[in-house]
Amino acid sequence: MEIIILPDADEVGRVAAAAIAHRVRRTPETVLGLATGSSPLGIYRQLADWVKQGSLDLRHTRAFALDEYVGIAADHPQSYASVIRREVVEPLSLDPDRVHVPDGRSSDIEAACAAYEDQIQRAGGIDLQILGIGANGHIGFNEPISSFASRTRIKTLTPKTRADNARFFSQPDHVPTHCVTQGLGTIADAKQLVLVAQGEHKADAIAAAVEGPLSSMCPGSLLQLHRHAIVVIDELAANGLRLSDYYRYTYANKPDWQRFE
Ligand code: F6R
Repeated sequence: MEIIILPDADEVGRVAAAAIAHRVRRTPETVLGLATGSSPLGIYRQLADWVKQGSLDLRHTRAFALDEYVGIAADHPQSYASVIRREVVEPLSLDPDRVHVPDGRSSDIEAACAAYEDQIQRAGGIDLQILGIGANGHIGFNEPISSFASRTRIKTLTPKTRADNARFFSQPDHVPTHCVTQGLGTIADAKQLVLVAQGEHKADAIAAAVEGPLSSMCPGSLLQLHRHAIVVIDELAANGLRLSDYYRYTYANKPDWQRFE
């Protein structure tokens, strides 16, 4: 695992975006996994800037969203289908036909989840999965004690996650109780993981994911099992890390051939 500690949230967005752009420039047909929420917004803004400047072309990428709420209309402004269209597809000029979001409205959720897994397989799997992390350590909406082997399925959001996401809704009780999410096993199959976190409120989750025991109590600790995981965080989110000096030293001495920016 590579841990990159940066001075502020803007740098987090820029450096994580550079890792993504590096891969897409080499392989324009890259299959991306997309997180929603606040954490990746800086990445999407930076990628959009490069697209506008003409130094990056994402039209040939395919993308699969990590998750979707169950029980809200696709055109609800906070459905992840709407968020992905507004924050990612339009500003990054992705081809909407190549961007997929799990179906949280199907009358047969299990079949819809299996179909989503099939779509990912048929696309050749996810090359680079963008991740945020919840304050309780969830990735995607895999709440604590999610199986490391889990695939796309329905989950019950914890009251803490619903409270954290209430800021996106006009009333707290409008936050759905359920979601469909790629499983931890689905996420683990991605060839590369790029997790971003900003702010003191993420420090405990980052410490548990990076340095804590491998445990389904912190789903983010899955990254410890992955062969190519990058964690890009600001100083505040790094506050709980015991080996932060070593991570800074490693990044400062990173060989040129390994650099992506
Ligand atoms: C959403 C997702 C979640 C969020 C996490 C952090 O697609 O994958 O795991 O990344 O809840 O949310 P923010 O970034 O809003 O703090």
